[in-house]
Formats: sequence, structure tokens, C-alpha cells
Amino acid sequence: MLPVYGQLPFVPERAVGCEIITTGGRRILDLYGGHAVAALGYGHPQLTRAIQEQTSQLLFQSNAVALDIRAKAAEALVRIAPDGLERVFFVNSGAEANENALRMACMTTGRNKVLAVTHAFHGRTAAAAAVTWKSDKWYGFPAKPFDVEFIPRDDSEAATAMIDDTVAAVIVEPVQGVAGAYALSGEFLKTLRKATQACGAVLIADEVQSGMGRSGHFFAMQAHGVDPDILTSAKSLGGGIPCGAVLCREDVGMRFGPGDLGTTFGGGPVAAAAIATTIDVIETDRLLDNVRQREAQICTQCITGPVQRIQGKGLLLGLVCDRPAVEVRNALLDYDILTGTSADPHVLRILAPLVLEALHVEHLARALDTIPPITS
Ligand SMILES: Cc1ncc(COP(=O)(O)O)c(C=O)c1O
Repeated sequence: MLPVYGQLPFVPERAVGCEIITTGGRRILDLYGGHAVAALGYGHPQLTRAIQEQTSQLLFQSNAVALDIRAKAAEALVRIAPDGLERVFFVNSGAEANENALRMACMTTGRNKVLAVTHAFHGRTAAAAAVTWKSDKWYGFPAKPFDVEFIPRDDSEAATAMIDDTVAAVIVEPVQGVAGAYALSGEFLKTLRKATQACGAVLIADEVQSGMGRSGHFFAMQAHGVDPDILTSAKSLGGGIPCGAVLCREDVGMRFGPGDLGTTFGGGPVAAAAIATTIDVIETDRLLDNVRQREAQICTQCITGPVQRIQGKGLLLGLVCDRPAVEVRNALLDYDILTGTSADPHVLRILAPLVLEALHVEHLARALDTIPPITS
């Protein structure tokens, strides 16, 4: 394998609930969830059963044929999505979802400028990376597919000045994940909505990391009552099965016909079964309530030890530390707790499964409390 990842010093063998069991028999509390993927934790009986049953019934068929399970997943997604998003195009990852969303915006408007927000991360493919903040050092392609400008985050005045009728799309993560779980203000998101609407630009909400219940709402835009024209989802979408989706308004979707978009694996039956079941479990197990309760508990109990304040939403939280977050991550790992770092060197990221329990948060608070202060 290419040595493109820094890897942690343990090898998972299996996992159950919020716990990873390593080859050496260590039990590690997973507050990182495989980069915000394990929404239902590990081994959730309903998800495991749905995947097993779908696998034995029909492992794969492409979009050349209609599938009941694909229709069921699309209907479930549209039901939980922000108002007005009525069409679905299934893909395989977050970057692929954003790539298609940006293509759709350019095709719909005929314009060739896209605005993103400073500190944003949208993925590694050509268009998604073009709208990723500071991607130049690894971008790699000889040219970007469209003109790109970045709106300073939370600067509504700048947004209003920059969004005009040359803009095809504005793409935004309502809670900036990789940036360190930074929740953009409702006022800024509403300004983006108003300004894009006024000049016929497409508003794309990238909810690859913030979506599927992680913010305490199915999608973080819903907390502000802002309905985008396109929304992208991946990561937690299938609870661990790789998949992604682009949702769009009917007036955007009606532009697309046979041959305009495509993918082999997107909307495959196992992914579709995983999506439909993940949505079902989030609803029946009342996980949105749990996310809000655990968020409140973390914000009350975990500003201790090296943690100075907490930002973000739901279980997409940034613990702002008094020292490099990597030092805190390593110290917590010594206590058998897995957390993540972020692009902000002082922010430790929590992307825990939505099934996180109160006793897990208490364990985290105790561990943070025992980390010694910085000695000068
Ligand atoms: C907000 C956001 N968008 C897009 C992506 C890219 O998703 P993927 O890694 O599935 O391509 C990520 C990945 O971290 C993300 O956080």
C-alpha cells in the first residue's frame, strides 16, 4: 500500500457498540467512529441482519435495472431531508457526491465560477478538491475545472458582495468537520441562501460529515431552517457500508436525463439496504435525542484538563485544547480512548457513534481530568 496515511499504534480485530477490541486484546472506546462513519456503532443487530439478508438475497445489480430496495432507500432519504429536496442520485463516497453536485450546478446554470468557504474540506477528486481550502499543496491536476473563490467564513457582508450572477454554486459545510468541527452561524447560512436565490446560483450543502443525525438533526441545515438546492451525504449514510448520495430540488433534477450522470456501484442493493436500515434505526432508537443529550453532557463535563472550550454541534465536536491536539489524542489513547485531530492543530475532534452512552462520556471526562497540566 502507498504510505499516504499516518496510522495509529493498534490493530482492530473486531468491534461492538462503541468499543474496538484489538489483536492484543485491548478494548478501546471509539469516539472517532472511523472518520464519522459508524453512526450505529459496531454490530448493531438490525443493520447487521439487513446487510446479511440483502447479501444473500441479491448482492449486486447496477442502475440498468430498477430495485425495490433502492427506491425504498431514496424514499427514506427524501422523507428525512430538508424541505424541497425530492430527487436522489446515489454514488459511492463523499467526494463523488460533491463532484456530481458541482457538475449539476455548472450544467444547470451554464456558469463557471464556484464559491466555497475558507477552511472547507470537500474531498480529493478534481472538482471537490478545487473547492477545498488550501488544497494546492496536494491538488495535483494541471488546472481546476472552474474558477474558485473563497468566502471568509461567517462573513455575511463578504458573501453578499461576492455572490452575483457569474456564480454557478456556493458550496458549504454547515459544520466544518475537518476544520475542527466549526459550526457556521445561522445568520451566515441564511445569507448564503438569500444571496444565491437572488442571482440564480445553486446552494450546495455538503453534509457528508455533519449529516445523518450527527448534528442532533438529520441534517445540520435543518437546525437553521435553511433549505439548500442540493445536499450531499456519505460517511454515516450507510452506517459503515461505503455509499453516498446527492439530493436535489425538482427544478434542478428535471434538467437531467439518461446519460447525464452515472456510476456503476451507486445505489447497489447492499448499500441501499444499509441506508434504509440506518435511517430506520436512527428513528426507532430515537438517536437524535441521544445525540443532543450526549452533546449537552460533553459540553458540561469535558471542559477539564487540557480542554478550554468546545465548538461544533451534536456529536461533531471540537475540543479546543491548551496544547497541540495530537498530544491530547495520544494521552487519551493511553487511557484506551480513541479521538481524532483536525486541520486546526489545537482542536481534538469527537465523531462518536450516535449510540454513545452517558458512561462513555463520564469515562472521557475522567481521562481528560487526569492529563497533567502543561509545565512551563
Ligand atoms: C465535509 C466532507 N465532504 C467530503 C468529504 C469526502 O468524503 P470521502 O472521503 O467519502 O470522499 C469529507 C471527508 O472527510 C468531508 O468531511
